[in-house]
Amino acid sequence: MAHVAVTRPLPDAGLAPLRAAHDVHVNDEKSGGLPMSEQGVVELAQGADALISTVADPLPASVLEQCTHLRVLAQFGVGVDNIDVAAARELGLVVTHTPGVLTDATADFAVALLLAVARRLRAADQFVRDGRFEGWETTLLLGMELTGKTLGIVGMGRIGQAVARRAIGFGMDVIYYNRHPANPTVERRLSARYVSLETLLTESDVVSLHCALNDDSHHLIDADALRQMKRSALLVNTARGPVVDEAALVEALDAGEIAGAGLDVFEHEPEVHPGLLEQERVVLAPHLASATVEARTKMARMCSEAVLATFSGGEVPYRVT
Ligand code: DGY
Repeated sequence: MAHVAVTRPLPDAGLAPLRAAHDVHVNDEKSGGLPMSEQGVVELAQGADALISTVADPLPASVLEQCTHLRVLAQFGVGVDNIDVAAARELGLVVTHTPGVLTDATADFAVALLLAVARRLRAADQFVRDGRFEGWETTLLLGMELTGKTLGIVGMGRIGQAVARRAIGFGMDVIYYNRHPANPTVERRLSARYVSLETLLTESDVVSLHCALNDDSHHLIDADALRQMKRSALLVNTARGPVVDEAALVEALDAGEIAGAGLDVFEHEPEVHPGLLEQERVVLAPHLASATVEARTKMARMCSEAVLATFSGGEVPYRVT
């Protein structure tokens, strides 16, 4: 029986198969829902053969090196930017993640943020709650229509493509920037045009980020990029906070260089730049894009499957290393 440490509570239905076979210890007392410290992760993983981690758990080489029993690291999420994957590989650790099952949930959430910002839902809701609704008005809280507008998708992987499919339903034109062009069948199906980042920034009415965080994408959207966007444009980020230079975004919003933003992720989570809190045309969410019962249950199940396969000697699914 292997000892499996889990950094925070996960949907029970997903963990059940693992509990039936192994000794599972869920860290619900120590961290609650809060990000763990590096020391906290080391303590939790002491003696553990498997660790189920999340995006909020720091796993640099210095932490991994201290988890001497560990054979498998199953990440509850698709992004693995919190893990030093090269160091894990070097240490002979199996790293897995949960691709595919959160694609639709994340794409839905990107569109929800887009609509909320375009149609000023935050201000509208506040307006009614404040008792200021005194009757229908012709020019109250006018927003932006999506039909006929251009959506620029940065990162045309699974989630970017799912957002493009939704955008077609809204009658939007889709352009995209990616490290490599998508295959022609995908481009045809989505009527999506591959462009340079500069073209995407200057032509898009909405820029939606769906790329992984790495050295190339860190601060991809910086002051210069924001200046290239239309003054009427909206930015949506459901990818990773550090893809956007948050201070530059606040300055761009203050200066009217772009019109609004929908943000599910932040540069220094869980901190949020105070300048964002004051913006009327900014909608903020606490990293919720994959937060559906369906997606989170499947994510937990995939972590269980990966750990079970590691200890039964079968082929380990969902491998990153
Ligand atoms: C992921 O999967 O990488 C998300 O950001 C966490 O749900």
